[in-house]
Amino acid sequence: DKVVLAYSGGLDTTAIIPWLKEHFDYDVVCCCIDCGQGNELDGLDERAKLSGASKLYIEDLVDDFAENYIMPCVKADAVYENKYLLGTSMARPAIAKKLVEIARKENAVAICHGATGKGNDQIRFELGIKALAPDLKIIAPWRMTDIWTMQSREDEIAYCEKHGIHLPFSTDSSYSRDRNLWHISHEGLELEDPANEPNYDHLLVLGTTPEKAPDEPEYVTMTFEKGVPTSVNGKQMKVADVIRTLNALGGKHGIGIVDIVENRVVGMKSRGVYETPGGTILMEAHRQLEELVLDRATMETKKDMANKFSQIVYEGKWFTPLREAIQAFMEVTQEYVTGEVKFKLYKGNIIKAGTTSPYSLYNESLASFTTGDMYDHHDADGFITLFGLPLKVRAMKLAEVEKN
Ligand code: ARG
Ligand code: SIN
Repeated sequence: DKVVLAYSGGLDTTAIIPWLKEHFDYDVVCCCIDCGQGNELDGLDERAKLSGASKLYIEDLVDDFAENYIMPCVKADAVYENKYLLGTSMARPAIAKKLVEIARKENAVAICHGATGKGNDQIRFELGIKALAPDLKIIAPWRMTDIWTMQSREDEIAYCEKHGIHLPFSTDSSYSRDRNLWHISHEGLELEDPANEPNYDHLLVLGTTPEKAPDEPEYVTMTFEKGVPTSVNGKQMKVADVIRTLNALGGKHGIGIVDIVENRVVGMKSRGVYETPGGTILMEAHRQLEELVLDRATMETKKDMANKFSQIVYEGKWFTPLREAIQAFMEVTQEYVTGEVKFKLYKGNIIKAGTTSPYSLYNESLASFTTGDMYDHHDADGFITLFGLPLKVRAMKLAEVEKN
């Protein structure tokens, strides 16, 4: 029988290969899914083979991730607990779907992942797998504490050596990180105590701090069509390239660094730092455009649903009717989110420098203080009389009750 292993090439998932063979006697098909983690994929093939895998898939998921997972979250303005742009959360269902696809192709009976029993990722992977392939067995070594006895990197290295795997893994543990096209997350080390300031010089991967960013601001323009970004600084590009371009710009100017204590699904609070340089610019630009084209009532409802959407994504409930329904609502709101946004990037700040849209509902003659024909000041008299009627009725009643 075969098991498909979600493989990153790191020490944890490498140690899982001999462990699976020892405890389950499965052929291990490794699957490394590229959601844009950068150079981490070099040398993976030898690494997997050396470790006893029977096969390694390297799957490029970047465009699928950008178009079908990131973009729905951008359109929805999905932000978890006011800060987290969900970079890890939205990648997990994309990965789960690919793992299932490969499991089917290989006729595998199980899928294995290296997420711990304390985190959110296990939930996201497993809800994804259950929704798409309810018959597949799921193996989560880190929760099988009777047979997974490795507690440290030293243990894992020793275990690998014992099974004839001699790879140059370092013993010093760094931050627990997760990187993809949209973001990188950092947890662990000094971050585990919220009283500590993050060691940014040591920690940052995608960019620099605002204080080290250039003293000169830089302009960036973006165009959107129906909520989807189509160009940066006059150059047409696909979504993944928009994000790559904005990552470079945002990283350079210290944009999108978030330090948060968040509530995990499993009940604990955890402290992390996220770098989402391009995503922060993209979402802000998208919001600027929506400011011009969405009517008030739609905006209000969209805001409520955005909160719901972010919870759904955070909790790993991507493959559910509710996520699809809310996404469909969001899609309708994007019909006129077309136009151009200009920003000035400066030391961690995104400063507005003009927004235009052919569908802008902003009406200069209505908004300006000089009187136009469409707005008669006298109309406001009657409007406020009716709008304020329930408040007035209640105040009169309270006054009457108090007198008696
Ligand atoms: N706390 C974040 C989330 O739940 C980031 C998780 C990072 N995952 C990791 N394997 N390091 O989405
Ligand atoms: C893990 O525990 O595997 C990473 C953190 C998380 O999933 O929240």
